[in-house]
Amino acid sequence: MQKEETDAINLTLRFGEGKYYWINTFGCQMNEHDSEVMAALIESLGFQPASTLEEANLVIINTCAVRKKPEDKVASMLGKLDALKKEKDELIIAVGGCMTQQEDLAVYIKKRFNQVDLVFGTHALPRLPELLDRARRQKEIILDIKEDYCEREGLPVNRATSYHAWLPIIYGCNNYCAYCVVPFVRGRERSREYDAIVVEASALVHQGYREITLLGQNVNSYGQDLPEKPGFASLLGKLDQIDGLSRIRFMTSHPKDLSLELIQTVARGEKICEHFHLPAQSGSNRILEKMNRRYSREQYLELVQAIKENIPEVSITSDIIVGFPGEREDDFAATLDLVKQARFDSAFAFIYSPRRGTKAEKLPDYTTYEEKEKRLQALNKIQQQISLEENEKLVNKTLEVLVEGTSKSNPELQTGRLRNNKLVHFAGSDRLTGKLIGVRITEARTWNLFGASEGEPY
Ligand code: 5AD
Ligand code: SF4
Repeated sequence: MQKEETDAINLTLRFGEGKYYWINTFGCQMNEHDSEVMAALIESLGFQPASTLEEANLVIINTCAVRKKPEDKVASMLGKLDALKKEKDELIIAVGGCMTQQEDLAVYIKKRFNQVDLVFGTHALPRLPELLDRARRQKEIILDIKEDYCEREGLPVNRATSYHAWLPIIYGCNNYCAYCVVPFVRGRERSREYDAIVVEASALVHQGYREITLLGQNVNSYGQDLPEKPGFASLLGKLDQIDGLSRIRFMTSHPKDLSLELIQTVARGEKICEHFHLPAQSGSNRILEKMNRRYSREQYLELVQAIKENIPEVSITSDIIVGFPGEREDDFAATLDLVKQARFDSAFAFIYSPRRGTKAEKLPDYTTYEEKEKRLQALNKIQQQISLEENEKLVNKTLEVLVEGTSKSNPELQTGRLRNNKLVHFAGSDRLTGKLIGVRITEARTWNLFGASEGEPY
């Protein structure tokens, strides 16, 4: 019998029947969505979700490589699993995601964590069932980190909620920002077919989903690699016409590709939420150039102004890197100044983390880590004050909230999301989950808001 035939037979046996799986996800929304696909693929083999890690017969770690911190967390998780496997011999441990797409790291995992059964890169996702089938029968570790862009259309998805869906529209990234590992681990830009996205969005609405978030490392370059080059603004406009859909979100936007047409589409759109995640990374032209971001601080600030002028209720969030190699005091001061002028609703700030194979890895860096930490704290302090002030502007307004369920920090409260992506906590029943309601904002804090439910007018 041919090997393929035995594989097919084993897959139809549903070897996961009566067994449990656990997925641990690190990193961004694209990884969260990939984990939803992994879950569906595994369930097609008969596995069911485990309620604890210890109960699992199959553990998958979906890794992130964007900074060192998430990589360290993965290493510590793998150490813990090594111990677990010593007690439970039949446990299958699989490691996937961005870390594994780097050959040296995949080989390191293979050598250092000898209890791992399977290492599969981001491109191998559709092959997960066959790989697991081989892993359970083969004693030696399996490594599949080929860069062969396996077709992802039509894969099943096991979504985390029944009201919100992640919808990838473009995979990979072509920008090669000097600090970033993403183009190396996710490959070149590949846009999904326009019609496939529209059909999937309509099907989701049919199934009862009210909010869709379009995902891509840079959604603004959507369609540029397709024959008819449909733009992102055109796609958004088309999705806005789907009856029954309440909210459309998108992330992330690269400032160099954000057009006035897109801003106007968001302004006009009935369902398109008034939120831009627009990473600035730095406010210094000298550093932006070294980062290969291809915009200036002036252009960035003009964009922010254009967004705010066209969309009065908008919120803008950002990412900032502190301590990029060669960042001087005056460069950092320029970043602080940009943050003050842009008045972000919130911003994630990160200390620069050297990444293998990137251009910045080779740049000389004279600033100490302590100095970088000080800069991070100074930046966070200013941003937190601005976040609070921006949140205070919403007090006493009644706003549309999509309820996400009981609050993680207080079981007496429900948590929901405003169109501008801010979280609101309010007293109410958990039967409201997935519903659109009106909430009057009563209190503003730095990270979130508190309010009082005004029923279900939406
Ligand atoms: N070091 C620190 N931060 C980084 N980011 C990406 N690469 C690095 C790095 N090497 C940040 C950027 C990006 C966000 C997702 O992570 O700010 O927008
Ligand atoms: Fe990385 Fe730049 Fe691509 Fe974003 S746009 S994923 S920062 S290379």
